[in-house]
Amino acid sequence: MRYMAAETIDLEEFAAKARAGLDAATDEAALESWRVAHLGRKGTLTSVLRKLGSLEMDERRRIGGEANKLKNELEAALKAKLSDLHGQRIATTIQEGQIDVTLPGRSKRVGRLHPITQTVRQIVDIFVSLGFSVAEGPEVETDYYNFEALLLGRDHPARDMQDTLYIDFVRDGVYPFMMRTHTSPNQVRFMEKHQPPIRVVVPGKCYRNEATDPTHEWMITQIEVLAVDEGISLADLKGTLFEFAKRMFGQERKVRFRCDYFPYVEPGVDMAIDCFLCNGKGCRTCHQEGWIEIMGAGMVHPKILTNMGYDADRVTGFAAGMGAERIALLLHGIEDIRRFYQNDLRFLEQF
Ligand code: PHE
Repeated sequence: MRYMAAETIDLEEFAAKARAGLDAATDEAALESWRVAHLGRKGTLTSVLRKLGSLEMDERRRIGGEANKLKNELEAALKAKLSDLHGQRIATTIQEGQIDVTLPGRSKRVGRLHPITQTVRQIVDIFVSLGFSVAEGPEVETDYYNFEALLLGRDHPARDMQDTLYIDFVRDGVYPFMMRTHTSPNQVRFMEKHQPPIRVVVPGKCYRNEATDPTHEWMITQIEVLAVDEGISLADLKGTLFEFAKRMFGQERKVRFRCDYFPYVEPGVDMAIDCFLCNGKGCRTCHQEGWIEIMGAGMVHPKILTNMGYDADRVTGFAAGMGAERIALLLHGIEDIRRFYQNDLRFLEQF
């Protein structure tokens, strides 16, 4: 039996056949069978490449190189023919009037920020411009941070107003994990990790067990404000929050502070602005009161400062918390808080 030498691989002959076959193929089906026959897994070129192994080293290199070049050439030629055919088909379709190229294109719908996201950013921007930085905290909170560390002990009656959604997990007879009811736990979280001076705002979603109505929603967005430093007084609280109110609701705004109770501040206040719709005369938005309450605030309770390891004789602080939905309702004159989360585009697209 004669030894089959390397020269038996005749690339030239294969190339000539393949090129002729490609020339002859005039529709997509013919091109596809040509591709399978020549370039496919069981095609002729593949079997040529498979035979390379039986060649001498030098021959293997030479023929291998040429075969690869040929493969690239044939693939490119095939691609060009296919795209030609495609172009022809479109041209025919247009000629036959099946495509009206003068029709306007379909524009993509552009998204936008949710009105509450816009409001949160507006609020946060004001505090950033006053020297505050921004932090975040978890929405699933522990009993310790949401209540206990804020001096809302287990039997504290103020807990009743902040019933929430609990995570279905009991330890020692209690549910230790819950959806946070306010952003105030981040006062403690931030103070644990930082030393005064502190200037920080913490925006985020909060949850409550609510029978929803036009002014109550089970998910709301709060912005917590915290400033801790030597020599911070109630005057700083008032000055800062007044400046915020003016930038948010107009320079001519007046503010009113009244006593309020939150276990984690002493003294505690609620802040109201004069109604920016009726300028304090009394209207539907302010329920004929002339004033609109927009946030709770107060001086951080010295007990908490001590718990954080701060020297409460030197260091003082103020904290405040406001609801973004309430502020957005007021700013836009919206009559029902539930609109924000009903995902009705007719509503959302107005912002
Ligand atoms: N956490 C309070 C609330 O949810 C608001 C508040 C924050 C009050 C900080 C005092 C200080 O209503």
